[in-house]
Amino acid sequence: MLNIQNLNAGYGEMPVLRNITITLAEKEIVAVVGSNGAGKSTMLKAISGLIKYTGKITYNNESLHSLPAHTIVQRGIVHVPEGRKIFPEMSVVENLIMGGFLYQKDRKVNMERVFTLFPKLADRRNQLGGTMSGGEQQMLAIGRGLMGNPKLLLLDEPSLGLSPLFTEVVFSAIETINNSGVSVLLVEQNVYQSLKISNRGYVIETGSIVLTGTGEELLNNQDVKKAFLGM
Ligand SMILES: Nc1ncnc2c1ncn2[C@@H]1O[C@H](COP(=O)(O)OP(=O)(O)OP(=O)(O)O)[C@@H](O)[C@H]1O
Ligand SMILES: [Mg+2]
Repeated sequence: MLNIQNLNAGYGEMPVLRNITITLAEKEIVAVVGSNGAGKSTMLKAISGLIKYTGKITYNNESLHSLPAHTIVQRGIVHVPEGRKIFPEMSVVENLIMGGFLYQKDRKVNMERVFTLFPKLADRRNQLGGTMSGGEQQMLAIGRGLMGNPKLLLLDEPSLGLSPLFTEVVFSAIETINNSGVSVLLVEQNVYQSLKISNRGYVIETGSIVLTGTGEELLNNQDVKKAFLGM
């Protein structure tokens, strides 16, 4: 479904990603794990058309290169950015409506689906986004992404700054979303939780992929255990 080949990207003259090659098949959850500054967010920005790159990114065998970001969204690739980026002055419902502006006909059904996944958002439907807790804002950010009818969801550190309880809720929601037929590319520093729910994973280090395998293989890998799991 998604095929990234020899991706190189950076900011101005500064290279960040070097020869990244990653694949994701339909219905998969694929995790890309790595430390601060490894280039995880940069990779997602390249996929969703927010920064320039060299190399090849294809989606259902069609190149995404040089397509504007809104066209990539229309094809079904929805990016939930790091740090939630919800609209603080808008209510929960208004935030969700913003996420579904391309699909007004589906708005009602999609919103019900979001409220079933995150009942807390239904309870708080009229609360301003900016007054929600970090975990609630993360649910809202994912919910807003779902309003855009994703076929492939790009999630940038959904568990960042969340309590263990909220982290559980969010990861279990990601599994539910995936079971409903949405493919997921998950970028995380929470290596244990993300590999646990992923079919396959990649370890990224200073802009390069250094390791790949099934979620289980990576969790049992000595280097992964040492570097990320404190074992
Ligand atoms: N807009 C920008 N301009 C210049 N450099 C940037 C910009 N955004 C990111 N960088 C640099 O690119 C490198 C990779 O950043 P990136 O945000 O992709 O890392 P990350 O893996 O997502 O890290 P984190 O886990 O902290 O979110 C870092 O050295 C960062 O300083
Ligand atoms: Mg990041």
